[in-house]
Amino acid sequence: MQSDIGVFLRSWLASPLKVGAIAPSGRALARMMTRSIGPATGHVVELGPGTGVFTRSLLLRGVREQDLTLIEFNEEFAHRLRRRFPKARVICTSAANIGNVDFRRRSSVGAVVSGLPLLSMPVATVSSILRGSFEHLRQGGDFFQFTYACRSPVDEQTLGMLSLQSSLVGSTWMNLPPASVYGIHRLGAPR
Ligand SMILES: C[S@@+](CC[C@H](N)C(=O)[O-])C[C@H]1O[C@@H](n2cnc3c(N)ncnc32)[C@H](O)[C@@H]1O
Repeated sequence: MQSDIGVFLRSWLASPLKVGAIAPSGRALARMMTRSIGPATGHVVELGPGTGVFTRSLLLRGVREQDLTLIEFNEEFAHRLRRRFPKARVICTSAANIGNVDFRRRSSVGAVVSGLPLLSMPVATVSSILRGSFEHLRQGGDFFQFTYACRSPVDEQTLGMLSLQSSLVGSTWMNLPPASVYGIHRLGAPR
């Protein structure tokens, strides 16, 4: 089987804006993305998991594999994820469809972890992804997103329209390229 870096590079060459990175994220970024998540979080949804760097970190944090829903639209990545995490639910579709994904209970998701290239997506797609995610997130549940930019990955206007706000979780130089993690939460939600 081809290495994860090989598959990533090939997918990036085929559609750079959709894949958004030439290689999987590093472990330092994975730890930062998942640092507020643990066994008590319950169900976690991961958007754009790629080859599963954040997925592995979620498992190390104590999230049960059967409590993971992975939404990835690249078929080759989805195939790898199914082999690697056989107890997780892997859905091969666009994250913009998350609002239509069926979860057993309403508002039962404890956190959403996103590796999506939000900055290269149309605003309408970003809005669908956030609206759908927050329909499933329980009160106090956060949406974690990383970015290579020096600002929030979602602009103020889109956040305001959805009654959301974002705050910086942290930044790491131990990633290629260096990256920052933001937590997006409902406006006024206690921190
Ligand atoms: C920057 S890569 C991040 C992969 C992985 N999370 C990591 O950090 O190594 C972005 C991932 O999002 C996926 N992706 C991009 N747009 C998507 C969409 N609309 N719906 C689902 N997955 C998407 C890509 O196929 C790719 O796996």
